[in-house]
Amino acid sequence: MLNAVSTLSAGDRLGNYQILGLAGAGGMGMVYRSLDTKLERLVALKFLSDQLVASKTDKERFLREARTASSLDHPNIGVIHGIEETSDGRTFIVMAFYEGETLAHKIAGGPLPLGEAVDIAIQTARGLTEAHARAVIHRDIKPSNIILTQQRVAKIVDFGLARVNSSADCTQTFGAAGTIGYMSPEQTLGKPVDQRTDMWALGVVVAEMITGRTPFQRDSAPAAIVAILNEAPKLPDEIPLELRRILYRALSKDAATRYPTCSEMLADLEVFRSHIDLESAKTPIPRSAVNDAAFR
Ligand SMILES: Nc1ncnc2c1ncn2[C@@H]1O[C@H](COP(=O)(O)OP(=O)(O)OP(=O)(O)O)[C@@H](O)[C@H]1O
Ligand SMILES: [Mg+2]
Repeated sequence: MLNAVSTLSAGDRLGNYQILGLAGAGGMGMVYRSLDTKLERLVALKFLSDQLVASKTDKERFLREARTASSLDHPNIGVIHGIEETSDGRTFIVMAFYEGETLAHKIAGGPLPLGEAVDIAIQTARGLTEAHARAVIHRDIKPSNIILTQQRVAKIVDFGLARVNSSADCTQTFGAAGTIGYMSPEQTLGKPVDQRTDMWALGVVVAEMITGRTPFQRDSAPAAIVAILNEAPKLPDEIPLELRRILYRALSKDAATRYPTCSEMLADLEVFRSHIDLESAKTPIPRSAVNDAAFR
């Protein structure tokens, strides 16, 4: 049966908010493009599905995470305006609405030119560096959680929300929130995670931006997990060696041999960017490299 929120449609009102339409739906719930009629600004209202905040503990964890995430203030992190409740007790997050497209949508159009991919990687790493400095781990970095605004600014959204879907002992479970392709080895094993899990996911995202596919993409979820745990990421030779080195380090199976902090990965990405020649920065790597059997 559809819950009340999934039937919201353009014109419906929730307190000060007027629903303009559905912005998107993910595994965790629905996001509505809405107008804050009091402040006269566009907002995105995110409702989590009932199952995810079923118990009092779930709800408390959700509120705690959203509170921490809302304290982050950085150009590459999506703004959270508040957390509110409907009259029937459903909690929703009020976020800034970003016109533009998700990185997932952009990648669906094909591999990105190197310069653009590295620029998005750097912006994402900047947002993560700030969050980690405030002890906030994202846990679900993936292209659908990176919005590219019309001004080409990358905004990371859904900070800490993956935690809502995790068990009380802080280990993440395979739920709607986890997209296997971006999970670190420790996440797939349900072990506790720290900031290095976000760097792994960023490594996956960077490889995907450049090649159009994630390095551990396989035909089934179990095969993907085996690859995440045991197989070295095969990165095509067309990715410059300096960048491949950064990615191999980010994608190290053992968190202890990854970058200890995102600021170090950011610094390497910035050095790499300063060395890219303009021509290769403008063109995606050839499809033949991506389709190479050795890469699969
Ligand atoms: N702040 C925002 N501004 C504009 N659009 C947004 C915003 N937040 C989310 N969206 C849109 O809503 C869609 C759904 O987001 P949601 O977080 O529910 O799912 P997801 O990230 O695609 O997947 P998952 O549930 O697996 O995390 C996004 O893909 C994006 O298109
Ligand atoms: Mg999301």
